[in-house]
Amino acid sequence: MSPPDDGARSTIDHRRVIAIDGPAAAGKSTVAHMLADRLGAMLFDTGALYRAVALAALRSQVAPDDHQSLARLARDARIVIQPPSQRDGRLYDVRLNEEDVTWPLRDPEVGAIVSKIAAHPPVRSALLPLQRRIASDGPVVMVGRDIGTVVVPDAGLKVYLDATPEERARRRHQEATRRGGIESYEDVLRETQIRDIGDSSRDTAPLRAAPDAIRINTDDMTIDNVVAEIESLARARVDATGAPLWPS
Ligand code: DC
Repeated sequence: MSPPDDGARSTIDHRRVIAIDGPAAAGKSTVAHMLADRLGAMLFDTGALYRAVALAALRSQVAPDDHQSLARLARDARIVIQPPSQRDGRLYDVRLNEEDVTWPLRDPEVGAIVSKIAAHPPVRSALLPLQRRIASDGPVVMVGRDIGTVVVPDAGLKVYLDATPEERARRRHQEATRRGGIESYEDVLRETQIRDIGDSSRDTAPLRAAPDAIRINTDDMTIDNVVAEIESLARARVDATGAPLWPS
């Protein structure tokens, strides 16, 4: 399926889409989860789509540079993201061809190849229709790298969350250790830096803040403060008649 053209998209109302982009482990998913909860919106973490394709590739032994096979995997995979079915720390469920892969998607093997896989234009375009369908379906907080620049450039609110690589690695390492992971902080930092380079240097949809995105550096902020700041930005948004888009 080819993505809808810009003309078709412009007729769809995306004012109640909140795009949250930024580098790995800037706190996007946690913040987006809490924000979606407060606003009564859906949460859609698009990184899970790329991770699901990476996992499918590992399982079917498709090489991370075989873009044709990867695009086929991305097109054929039935990926569903839905509210959490278990209380084990997950923010949402991810199903790949009916199987619950929420935690396997976080394996270091997936993390090691996902940036490479996400760099292939045919993979990205195969995952675009699903993302745009969700964006058109209603109030949603969408998390990714290119939501405000490519997927939903007319989103009602665009935020670019950032933090230093050291702070992001520290957070990710803490989270992994809590789940029983044995990776060292140094390894997590190295992986974070490699992913940053991969995500921001690719030709297609590189990690970049949209010109009209609001940048928030989260280094010295608590999660609650970040959520409160974005919530107040959302609550201040009004439609053409002056009515709030996100009434309290
Ligand atoms: O957010 P994350 O770490 O789960 O993302 C996994 C990978 O997918 C990461 O390398 C960036 C990539 N990604 C992307 O290229 N575009 C998106 N909209 C979301 C994620």
